[in-house]
Amino acid sequence: FEKDIEFLTANLDRYADFPKPGINFRDTFALFRNPVTYKKVIDIFTDHISKLGADVIVGLESRGFILGGAICYNLGIPFVPIRKKGKLPGKVVEFKYELEYGQDVFEIQEAAIKKGAKVVIVDDLIATGGSCMAAIELLKKVQAEVVECVVLVELTDLDWRSKVSTKTTSFIKIDSSS
Ligand code: PRP
Ligand code: MG
Repeated sequence: FEKDIEFLTANLDRYADFPKPGINFRDTFALFRNPVTYKKVIDIFTDHISKLGADVIVGLESRGFILGGAICYNLGIPFVPIRKKGKLPGKVVEFKYELEYGQDVFEIQEAAIKKGAKVVIVDDLIATGGSCMAAIELLKKVQAEVVECVVLVELTDLDWRSKVSTKTTSFIKIDSSS
């Protein structure tokens, strides 16, 4: 496991000053486009989430979709998307959130999740925690129970814990400036 994490960390792409000056952008697509690293990532998520008793996996647009779909395929449980505003048909609930580099609105389809369902949220990265917090708030609105947030990368020096009190698991822990 430690060897795999080292390998994944070494293969993560980093772009300075994207999407705006001062942001050190970690591009997890570098791991998703390589079948070897992608398989390792999906195996690590699947193994961890298989022990959580989740009824549903909720993935956050867009990188959370690439993780969530494959994990759900492995576990045989439903995948439900949280999308950026205006993309989902039917009755939706919305929540506005702050990003490390701006603001956005997340939505979920009201009918997609049953009341009391045990949900695991997946995403590629947690920085300020704004995205995960918005997802948790949305799931509260539809009366689901968020068991855990699981992310591939955690930026350890950013204060996401002040926004996200739900149990959060990350596999790669790095400093945003490293
Ligand atoms: C990035 C990343 C996480 C989020 C983390 O997504 O994929 O979802 O930011 O930041 P936070 O903890 O400060 O909220 P982004 O909104 O850039 O969109 P993408 O997934 O569609 O690339
Ligand atoms: Mg994202």
